[in-house]
Amino acid sequence: MKIVSVVGARPQFVKLAPIHHAAQASGVDHVIVHTGQHYDPMLSDVFFEDLGIGAADVHLGVGSGSHGVQTGAMLAALDAVFDAQQPDWVLVYGDTNSTVAAALSAVKMHLPVAHLEAGLRSFNRRMPEEHNRVMTDHAADLLLAPTQVAVDHLASEGLGPRTVLVGDVMTDVLFKVRDQVAGRPSPLAAELGLSAGAYYVATIHRAENTDDPVRLAEVASALAGLDKPVVLLAHPRVVAKAAAHGIQLTQGSLLAHAPLAYPDLIASVLHSAGIVTDSGGLQKEAFLLRVPCTTVRTETEWVETVDLGWNVLAGTAQQVAAGARRPRPADTDAAPYGDGRAAERVVAELLRRAR
Ligand code: UD1
Repeated sequence: MKIVSVVGARPQFVKLAPIHHAAQASGVDHVIVHTGQHYDPMLSDVFFEDLGIGAADVHLGVGSGSHGVQTGAMLAALDAVFDAQQPDWVLVYGDTNSTVAAALSAVKMHLPVAHLEAGLRSFNRRMPEEHNRVMTDHAADLLLAPTQVAVDHLASEGLGPRTVLVGDVMTDVLFKVRDQVAGRPSPLAAELGLSAGAYYVATIHRAENTDDPVRLAEVASALAGLDKPVVLLAHPRVVAKAAAHGIQLTQGSLLAHAPLAYPDLIASVLHSAGIVTDSGGLQKEAFLLRVPCTTVRTETEWVETVDLGWNVLAGTAQQVAAGARRPRPADTDAAPYGDGRAAERVVAELLRRAR
């Protein structure tokens, strides 16, 4: 059996790692196509190296652009790749422009498409990720859902018969890397002279928080006003937008820092006082590491983290401050994201249905 995985953005490289290892263990021919959506080495190459993925088999080199230009360039390039590969499955990941481009190209070529991380919904129609995931779910033949909540969303959209609950593959990687870095000090604390438990880790990159200069200034000043140092692992998008609008990303408690490689991120989060983020993945990673998270958004797809008390949504500066300073949530052994073996289930499901 041949699977072609199409990836392009940082969170997709993380999800790709356990799938690649499970595919190799099952003797599946696994071809990796990198669209080139993310091209900075710290957003791309380090993940392939640190997570043992090796190199992509095909690189489309698409790069940045408006949604239409970026997605269209991927579509135009993917037809020829799928035609040459003739896979049994095209596997697409998450909710980026690379996801929707690959799903659309494959479905038009009558190739079976499986969507990993299907069924997540923010119900916010202004988010590019929401368009991407809804369109991909409705185009795909097989919907690999990470949680029961995602299964329920798909059922309510009439997609129940195409849905399988597999668990969350990011949990697979996280548990492995957590065990690898256990006992290691925080690389951020060591580099910046901070004490363990006395700093926050922050990431901000979503269009809703970065593209409007008034909003970005508001978010930066909310982080700058927190009670402990806040290390902002600054995505190129936020750096570019801040520079364009003259907004300081190092001010007050806020200190801008380059993005981290995955194992360094996990070690730094483990020793932090809390997370402040608008990333989807990091909210869930914080929960799995039992580090309190404050999410700078009006809604989340990972509602289990909020229901269990480990994540709070914070729109205003006051809410961010209250979220970061809140007491440690009650311990829980709930495991809404699965047992860390989701990727094995994904590959088994693809094998079973290909036969
Ligand atoms: C994309 C995904 C988002 C995901 C995020 C993870 C979409 C619509 N969004 O957002 O869901 O959470 O990746 O990081 O697909 N840039 C660089 N170097 C790079 C990549 C981007 O400088 O390697 C800059 C460019 O100025 C680019 C901007 O960042 O225009 C935005 O990049 P893009 O890939 O379009 O979206 P992300 O914000 O990264």
